[in-house]
Amino acid sequence: MAKRALITGITGQDGYHLAELLNEKGYEVYGIIRGQENPKRLVIEQEQPYVKLIEADLTDMTSLVRAVKTAQPDEVYNLGAISNVGFSFNNPQVTADITGKGVLNVLEAIRITGGEKTARFYQASTSEMFGGLDYNRPGDGYDENSLFHPRSPYGVAKLYGHWITKNYRESYGMHASCGILFNHEGPHRGISFVTRKITDAVARIHLGKQDHIELGNLDPKRDWGYAGDYVEGMWRMLQQDKPGDYILATGETHTIGEFLTLAFKEIGIDDWKPYVKQNPLYMRPAEVDILLGNPAKAEKVLGWKRQVDFEGLVKMMVKNDIDIQSKLAN
Ligand code: NAP
Ligand code: GDD
Repeated sequence: MAKRALITGITGQDGYHLAELLNEKGYEVYGIIRGQENPKRLVIEQEQPYVKLIEADLTDMTSLVRAVKTAQPDEVYNLGAISNVGFSFNNPQVTADITGKGVLNVLEAIRITGGEKTARFYQASTSEMFGGLDYNRPGDGYDENSLFHPRSPYGVAKLYGHWITKNYRESYGMHASCGILFNHEGPHRGISFVTRKITDAVARIHLGKQDHIELGNLDPKRDWGYAGDYVEGMWRMLQQDKPGDYILATGETHTIGEFLTLAFKEIGIDDWKPYVKQNPLYMRPAEVDILLGNPAKAEKVLGWKRQVDFEGLVKMMVKNDIDIQSKLAN
């Protein structure tokens, strides 16, 4: 019989890739969609017709209980969240409700419906929980034992989700795992995140639709990988006999300036500086200056390794945005 998976955050970047992967593996895929007029419903119905959509919201426990009852899942992937760090500074309470307490709601929905012994659970934890400060940052990158020091309402909410997942593992014997994922990007990345914001702008500049891009702090460094590689790691975590926590990262870190250099190079521009203006609107009250992950455990235990490198990622994203913009009218 086909395995059944329930994904929260099906309309997001990782939801797209994970649904595709699980469908290829023969799973019956259920996805939670929220809101009465979610425009992404049509996109999923057209592009991923194999996904069975269930209306629910991470803040509405009754809807989650109904979703778990309907899907009867063997595996639950909790990807749903307010995931934009900048947004979380202006919207800390809703971030706490969705990104933090939403995790508890899903875990409880599984327990209430008697699924704690049968359903395996994946929590989308994040490198934002580390904070990038000198005192807790090992030279070879953060690993599963590094100290947490979140620097945003998003990071703090995620830390709650991380610990409540571990608590349900320890308290109720749930097969509940946390993937501590470093930044991962691709053509399905939301437009407000810095990589996609850049590749979208580069495509428009190339086609003469825009003459510059406004960004915030260009100095932070990130460990950027490809989202398609990372969902494979999520799945592998839930195939282990025992639950656990795993870092997924590339082990390399790059500045936003380096991303800009490669992206502009794709359209034949060597010096991006004339095309970039800094706007304080995009600065954060507290910044994570550097993120670098050490994926040694995932490589050893899960046999996982990223496939797409930094340059390949930038190329893929610029090409995708040029294709999209070329098809659109001005
Ligand atoms: P994303 O594209 O921003 O997707 C977030 C998803 O959460 C969307 O489907 C959104 O649905 C859903 N959602 C938001 N509020 C909800 C609510 N109240 N009820 C139900 N669903 C809700 O994020 P992503 O990049 O795919 O990331 C997936 C997960 O991994 C997130 O939890 C993120 O925090 C975490 N993570 C991401 C990265 C990364 O670099 N991408 C790294 C580490 C961890 P709507 O369409 O309705 O808004
Ligand atoms: N979004 C954005 N927009 N970021 C900018 C901009 C801008 O105009 N200009 C500079 N930045 C900087 C941010 O200050 C940050 O240092 C860096 O670019 C990356 O920002 P994002 O792309 O928004 O990602 P993030 O690192 O804050 O968070 C992402 O990765 C986390 C994992 O480390 C998100 O996907 C989180 O959900 C995820 O947990």
